[in-house]
Amino acid sequence: MSGFKSDFLSGKNILITGGGTGLGREMAITFSKLGGRVSILSRKREVLEQTSRDIRKMGYEVEYEQCDVRYPDQIAKAVENIETRTGPINSLVNNAAGNFISRTEDLSNKAFDTVIAIVLQGTVYFSMEMGKKWIKNNSGGVILNIVTTYSWTGSAYVVPSAVSKAGVLALTRSLAVEWGPRGIRSVAIAPGPFKTKGAWNNLVPTGEIQEKMVSRNPMRRLGTTEEISELSAFLISDNASYINGEVVTIDGGEWLEGAGEFNALSAMPDEFWEGLKSMRSKR
Ligand code: HXC
Ligand code: NAP
Repeated sequence: MSGFKSDFLSGKNILITGGGTGLGREMAITFSKLGGRVSILSRKREVLEQTSRDIRKMGYEVEYEQCDVRYPDQIAKAVENIETRTGPINSLVNNAAGNFISRTEDLSNKAFDTVIAIVLQGTVYFSMEMGKKWIKNNSGGVILNIVTTYSWTGSAYVVPSAVSKAGVLALTRSLAVEWGPRGIRSVAIAPGPFKTKGAWNNLVPTGEIQEKMVSRNPMRRLGTTEEISELSAFLISDNASYINGEVVTIDGGEWLEGAGEFNALSAMPDEFWEGLKSMRSKR
C-alpha cells in the first residue's frame, strides 16, 4: 500500500533509463500507480516489452524505446519518438548502469571504458538532451540520478563504477546550481543493497557476500523495492520542489557503519560493556 495518493504524480511525464528491470522497473510501476505517465528505455527489447505488458495489465499506459545510453544519437531519437506519443517529458530518471566486481589490476581499459560510458557519459548525454530542451522551452524539469553510497567514499573492487558514480554525483550538484535558476532541479538517490537480478548477478554472486552485507547493516536487512520507489516518487514530485542538489541515502545506515571509528564495537558482547563499567568505577 502506497503512502501517497493515486494522483500524487499527475502531470508528471517521466522517462526512466534502465526501466525494464530491477529498481527502474519498480519505479516505473510505482510512478504509474501514482498517476505519472511513464516511458522506459534500455538496450534489450524483451525486458522493455515484458515490463510494459505488466504495467498495461495493471491498467496504465506506458511507452518504451530501445536505446543504448552510450550513444547520443540514439538518445535523441528515443526522446523524439517518446515525446511524439506522450508530449513533452518533464522528469528524467537516470537509472541505467553497468557494474561488476573485479580486482582493478585485472581490468582491461575497455572494461573501464564500458562502465564509464554507460554510467557517467550516458547520464551526462541524457541530462544534456533533456536540459537543453527544457531551457529552450523554458519549461523546467527534474533530473533524478541513481548513484550509490560509494559515490563519495569510493570502493575497492568496483572502481569503474565508483569513479563514474562520483562523477554523476558531481554532475547532480553542479547542475543544481547552474540550472536551478532555469527551473530544473537535480537530485540523487544513493541506494545501499537492494536485491535485484542485475546487481546480484554482477556483484553479489555468493550467499556469503549477501550475509556479510546484511550482518554489517545496522537494520540487519536489505532494502525493499517499495522503499526506494516511494522515495523516488517523492523526489520527482512537486512536494520536493525546494530540494535541489541533494543526495538522499537509503541504505539502512550501512555506509555510516563502515565509517565510524568505534562502530566495530557493535560486535562486542554485554560482558564487555559491563567490564568497562566496573573498570571505570575502580579508577
Ligand atoms: C572484468 C569485465 C567483466 C567482469 C565485462 N568485462 N564483465 N571485466 N570482470 N565481470 C569487460 C569485458 O571483458 C570487456 O573488456 C568489457 O568489460 C566490455 O564487456 P562487454 O561484455 O562487451 O560489455 P557489454 O556487453 O556492453 O555489457 C556491459 C556490462 C554488463 C557492464 C559489462 O555487465 C551489463 O550489461 N551490465 C548491465 C547490468 C548491471 O551491470 N547491473 C548492475 C547494476 S548494480 P575486453 O577488454 O575483454 O574486451 C550497481 C550498484 C550495485 O551498479 C551496488 C550493490 C550494493
Ligand atoms: P539492473 O536491473 O541491472 O539495472 C540496470 C539497467 O540498466 C538495466 O535495465 C539495463 O537494461 C540498463 N542498461 C545497462 N546498460 C545500458 C545501456 N548502455 N543503455 C541503456 N540501458 C542500459 O540493476 P539495478 O539494481 O536495478 O540498478 C539500478 C540502478 O540502481 C543503477 O544505477 C545501479 O547502479 C543503482 N544501484 C543499485 C543498487 C542495488 O543494490 N541494486 C545499489 C546501489 C545503486 P538493458 O540490459 O536492457 O540495457
